[in-house]
Amino acid sequence: MQRGKVSERNHKIERCCRLTANFIYHHVIKFDMDVKKAIEETRSVRKYQTKEIPDDLIEELIDAARLAPSGNNAQPWKYKVIASKKEKALLKENKIFKQDFVYKAPVIILCCADPEAYPKAKFEQGFDDAYELRALRDLAISSQNLILRATELGLGTCYVGWMNKPRTKEIFGLPERYVIPYFITLGYPADKPKPKSRKRTEEILL
Ligand SMILES: Cc1cc2nc3c(=O)[nH]c(=O)nc-3n(C[C@H](O)[C@H](O)[C@H](O)COP(=O)(O)O)c2cc1C
Repeated sequence: MQRGKVSERNHKIERCCRLTANFIYHHVIKFDMDVKKAIEETRSVRKYQTKEIPDDLIEELIDAARLAPSGNNAQPWKYKVIASKKEKALLKENKIFKQDFVYKAPVIILCCADPEAYPKAKFEQGFDDAYELRALRDLAISSQNLILRATELGLGTCYVGWMNKPRTKEIFGLPERYVIPYFITLGYPADKPKPKSRKRTEEILL
């Protein structure tokens, strides 16, 4: 083979290797996130870009919440995705939140649960918790699935428990019995908050 042709072939091989390495870096290494990393990377994000979140990503999040385990497999959780200006204005008019960042989030997810989702016949005093507590417990497990999936998809979230619960039930016509511990804000992060401190392992072990 002529010298020119050899160098042209080598050049092509080199380019191919570079493209492959680039692909692996971006699609396998850089964007690959396991559960451990999602747990470590999750922060309460309170500043968001104005960029809209595609519907299919929201569906992914709700699906992660849907797949959570629950006592008696009762799945008591209910989620309401709020993305329209009209519904956000309704929240603001009713002063549902104390913090302004919530109204500015591209999406706000109302998280609640139905204590009547459990089979009553099975209740055993001293073994079973009250239905409200069970509903809260299961909702929290499901919501954390949603949060971790959001991190994995490059989205920022924040739980918001500082809100007017009775008025939220009123404006959305939710049954009085529902427990409604928090909303979750959602959007592409505008900044990356520093990690907050956590207790040492010894401090949380009994
Ligand atoms: C159930 C729950 C309710 C929360 N409510 C609020 C809230 O109303 N407003 C807020 O700014 N942050 C709220 N947070 C976020 C916490 O302040 C935050 O998780 C904590 O300070 C640790 O910070 P990090 O999430 O960035 O690690 C809430 C968190 C949880 C788990």
